[in-house]
Amino acid sequence: NYPQKVRIVEVGPRDGLQNEKQAIDTATKVELIARLGASGLKTIEATAFVSPKWVPQMADNSEVMRQIERIAGIHYPVLTPNMKGLEAALEVGVTEVAVFAAASEAFSQKNINCSIEESIERFVPVIETAREHGVQVRGYVSTVLGCPYQGEVPPEKVAQVAQTLYDLGCYEISLGDTIGVGTPLKTQAMLEVVAAAVPMEHLAGHFHNTYGMAIANIFAALQLGMSVFDASVSGLGGCPYAQGASGNVATEDVVYLLHGMGIETEVNLQSLVATAHWISDQLGRSPASNVAKAIAA
Ligand code: HMG
Ligand code: MG
Repeated sequence: NYPQKVRIVEVGPRDGLQNEKQAIDTATKVELIARLGASGLKTIEATAFVSPKWVPQMADNSEVMRQIERIAGIHYPVLTPNMKGLEAALEVGVTEVAVFAAASEAFSQKNINCSIEESIERFVPVIETAREHGVQVRGYVSTVLGCPYQGEVPPEKVAQVAQTLYDLGCYEISLGDTIGVGTPLKTQAMLEVVAAAVPMEHLAGHFHNTYGMAIANIFAALQLGMSVFDASVSGLGGCPYAQGASGNVATEDVVYLLHGMGIETEVNLQSLVATAHWISDQLGRSPASNVAKAIAA
């Protein structure tokens, strides 16, 4: 019952780099995006139009979007938390954006400085205006398997926020295990509740790997028919408003899993691993992923 094909949403340039302490040149980000596209990834989240006071690493958002070469067939979504972000994104011709909500009140306050309900009110015009411009909107729900501030998060709350975003016009809802605390059976229990509200073909999994459970959770989600997963080359990343959150599951680890199961991705693993080594060199450290450690550059 596994999907025959999986779409990977590469979030390294955004989720990965947003959490780096060191400054990263725009040119490095642009080259990273080009290399990821050359590896066969068809969706590459490129940057975030968030407040530079909150996330300084994404302050060059417009420059990144101006400088990347946009290849036909590849999507370059960006985060837009509010109208100010959307307007700036439209100015540089983005064709896909993402709004991001949480299933935990405490995390919503820390991450975007408002309640869940206020965030949804804020997203209504963002989604409407984006769609008027022919721009697709993806929705994120964070803390779906646990919150760094409030602990347990009920699956019913995840389902409610996911359904609200879906009903407002998001074409896909990405479910974020923001701090990587989930385990496989808990993942399946949560997905069963959420998939009763939003069809599985409109759900994506976004697993951080803090406790090393992301690959197991992806396998659990594949068993329920999920076929879209977010991942970050070399396991880059974390969330600046979730202490202890490590990077996303590494894209190369996900590709290795999927190819080993006979599931198509369109990604060239060797080329992706070379990119994992390249970006790790740029950041002055070794790759965080098992597959990049196993396969030389
Ligand atoms: P706020 O301070 O409540 O907003 O922040 P405000 O409207 O009062 O504005 C404050 C200042 O920010 C103003 O500037 C605005 O102009 C400016 P000032 O007048 O003081 O000079 N501003 C902006 N500037 C540029 N772009 C914008 C923008 N908006 C306001 N879009 C806000 C509210 C949402 C803006 C802020 O909290 C924010 O930017 N938060 C983003 C946090 C973030 O990026 N977190 C990481 C991404 S989410 C994530 O990683 C989770 C995910 O991966 C899934 C998962 O793992 O679970 C997606
Ligand atoms: Mg994330």
